[in-house]
Amino acid sequence: MSTAQGLPAPVRSVPAATQPAFSAQARSRYARHADSLTQLLSSLYGEREDFQQWLARFLDRLASLEQARGEDLRELDQRRLQDPDWLARSPGVAYSCYVDRFAGNLAGVRERIPHLREFGVRVLHLLPFLKMRQGANDGGFAVSDFASIQDGLGSLDDLRELGAALRGNGISLMADIVLNHVADDHPWARAAMRGDAARQQYFLTVERRDEVDAIEAHLDQVFPDQAPGNFTWNPALARWVWTTFFDYQWDLNYQNPEVFAEMALAMVHLANLGVEVFRVDSAPYIWKRIGTDCRNQPEVHVILRALRVVLDIVAPATLMNAEAIVEREEILRYFGEGRRECSLAYNAALMAATWVSLIAGSAAMVRDTAAATPQLPAACVWVNYARCHDDIIWSVLRRDIEARGDDYAAILGGVARSLHGQDAASYSRGVPSQSHDPLHGTSGMTSDLVGLRDGDEDSWRRYALVYAVAFAMPGIPLVYMGDELGQGNAALPQRQAADDTRWLHRPALDEAALAQRHVPGTTAQRAFSLMQWFQQMRRQLLDRASGQAVEFLAGLPQGVLGLRRGMCRVLLNFSGTPQRVALADGDWRAYAPWQDAPRIVRDALQLPGYGQAWLWPDAEARVARARSSMESK
Ligand code: GLC
Repeated sequence: MSTAQGLPAPVRSVPAATQPAFSAQARSRYARHADSLTQLLSSLYGEREDFQQWLARFLDRLASLEQARGEDLRELDQRRLQDPDWLARSPGVAYSCYVDRFAGNLAGVRERIPHLREFGVRVLHLLPFLKMRQGANDGGFAVSDFASIQDGLGSLDDLRELGAALRGNGISLMADIVLNHVADDHPWARAAMRGDAARQQYFLTVERRDEVDAIEAHLDQVFPDQAPGNFTWNPALARWVWTTFFDYQWDLNYQNPEVFAEMALAMVHLANLGVEVFRVDSAPYIWKRIGTDCRNQPEVHVILRALRVVLDIVAPATLMNAEAIVEREEILRYFGEGRRECSLAYNAALMAATWVSLIAGSAAMVRDTAAATPQLPAACVWVNYARCHDDIIWSVLRRDIEARGDDYAAILGGVARSLHGQDAASYSRGVPSQSHDPLHGTSGMTSDLVGLRDGDEDSWRRYALVYAVAFAMPGIPLVYMGDELGQGNAALPQRQAADDTRWLHRPALDEAALAQRHVPGTTAQRAFSLMQWFQQMRRQLLDRASGQAVEFLAGLPQGVLGLRRGMCRVLLNFSGTPQRVALADGDWRAYAPWQDAPRIVRDALQLPGYGQAWLWPDAEARVARARSSMESK
């Protein structure tokens, strides 16, 4: 295995312009982007003798795919090119679910479009649905074929029809592109095991155990209990295969330009089937540099920018969403630092900080994290969320906590143990994820993490509080399937729970709850109306404060996060006890979920424990006050 040292190689020779057979529309885009594509790719692969031939071959294949792009998608390309900030202004939410658990199969998802519309969904993230490994497959993240659909979920035609139907209803389909690895039963891996030397170059393998140990010394482990280490011995290859995640997920070798080409073409193929947003799975891991932790390497960004340029040429309507569950300042780099890269990224640090604040009863962590996050350029959008199909990964906060001089293990160990119900005062029903070490991660649905119980108002307020952060901060809020109905953890066979506790928060959609979403007095109705209420508040924010930076209010009690966006103020009480907040400046009208709005008395309001208030200027009261002050003069 060869490994690059240092930064990407400088551009040595930019190949003579090739003329791939793009359609007329794409030809002009190619003319605009060809140089930047060549430069990016030559910085990775330009030292190879066959670089120019490789590039010409790649562009030819790209052009054939581009020629196959449907008319409706070409129209979408044109619309989006004229309106690049469309997502930042969109009032809808993102919604994430597994195809089978949400609706059985792709055709079933189509039938659920009315529900998605009623719920205000703008971006639908369907978790992996491509052909996946037989047996264990990490919820589909072990892909066996990027060009076919998993048995039982439907066909490529179903996907195309679903994409079109969603588009017709103003919903964009988001799908995963698993760049880092393939399943060990993917044809590339099978061919490698049969001795195909070209396919062996698709993977990263090491001959000797001592070499493995030297690399491992710098690496973390993603699944320390279930899949310890980052390498797996393969008897057919008689070598150690780099497997960052499970032993059946073989990391791809992006030093091989063929790997880049294949994955770029797989993406474009999916874009032609109607995928509008790519969730770039495990983005930080795709480039390895021995002697480092092999995450967030500069080449990762070169690859993502090159993929962006490829899409700009052949499918410009599409967006990339970075799944980079790393420290805050590292996540930011995936937006491209002034160059085009990903348009979206999960706000993983803010999500984890929200849970820390909730358990600590102090707004400090969430405020510091949010305040340290700069405003993004207009076409970039945070994905703000409370939960997703993965565990809460605590290490994203490590650097921030240590930079303050605090003890990361002590602080987050306490938070995690509380979320795992391991201290006496705890209300949570989460469980440790992937490791006996509580600090590794936390699994559980929102409902169980906040200890939701009917009749317990505090627990409902906690539910509303964690989602309030996702709706109040700039970005698109992502609702994880089941949270709109207050669904709890799945009942799991013990073995499955022991294998991977993330299955606990991957239940099937509760049909009975769905049917009750408008029936007063039910959990489903309360959760559903909460999410609809947040959407109303967010629509107003977008109407009246879009593009405005968030400011954080000073002088508030320790438990309270106060933020200002334009004319709106949002006060969130992370402590379990009531807090008084003085409103020194003007007349306000306070809103809160479920008519729970605190009353404003003598220019102050009393937030209940875990309570919240969204304040808008009270125009009538302001006019009346101004009039009476004029009259008294
Ligand atoms: C991403 C997915 C996660 C999966 C991992 C490996 O982090 O969200 O579920 O286990 O990638 O593919």
